[in-house]
Amino acid sequence: MKALGICGSARHAGNTALLIETVLDGARSSGMETETVFLNELDIGPCTGCRSCKGKTEECATADDFAGLIDKVREADLIVIGSPIYMGQVTGQTKTFLDRMYSLRRADRTIRLDGTKKKGAMVVVCGSSDPSHPDGTRRTLGVFFRYLNTPDVVELVEQGLGSEGEVLGRTEAIARAREAGQNLAGGLSPAAR
Ligand SMILES: Cc1cc2nc3c(=O)[nH]c(=O)nc-3n(C[C@H](O)[C@H](O)[C@H](O)COP(=O)(O)O)c2cc1C
Repeated sequence: MKALGICGSARHAGNTALLIETVLDGARSSGMETETVFLNELDIGPCTGCRSCKGKTEECATADDFAGLIDKVREADLIVIGSPIYMGQVTGQTKTFLDRMYSLRRADRTIRLDGTKKKGAMVVVCGSSDPSHPDGTRRTLGVFFRYLNTPDVVELVEQGLGSEGEVLGRTEAIARAREAGQNLAGGLSPAAR
């Protein structure tokens, strides 16, 4: 079984990347294969709102790395998506990717990808300590899982973080992330593809 990490931070040794990697480490310890993609390394352009995906072809008309990433999403049994909060929301590269997820929804509002047997986790990190600050970002990443029809999603939110790798000093957060990966992997049967 496969676990896929999708990182919306360009800092590959940053707090988001480290928490995603820790969840995947837990999943590996339960026997899963893992892979992480960094959105800043992919060529994924913005949705143009052309609605080709709602027409006859049901395909996104923009040819770039989005389709390949969706193939990986389709193959994955566990998906861990993470973003730092930038200006009160997910990062630009995360939002650009999420907008393209619109192509997975048909004109009749059904979803083209059956992720009902997949498991999910979201990672949100930010500088602010205000407990309500991550709410909008959590909702936005929740829409990603709605577009996959994935019901079981664990939320890992760490606040008050700034410098790269700072989260490694938080023993409890790291333990929670690893345990989440183990538990999510443990609750999986092979996903319907
Ligand atoms: C351009 C930019 C905008 C940011 N905006 C916010 C913000 O609106 N709210 C917040 O709490 N933190 C904000 N931060 C802080 C980051 O969320 C924080 O440093 C986080 O740990 C970075 O994650 P990373 O280590 O995974 O890259 C911002 C950081 C940058 C670089």
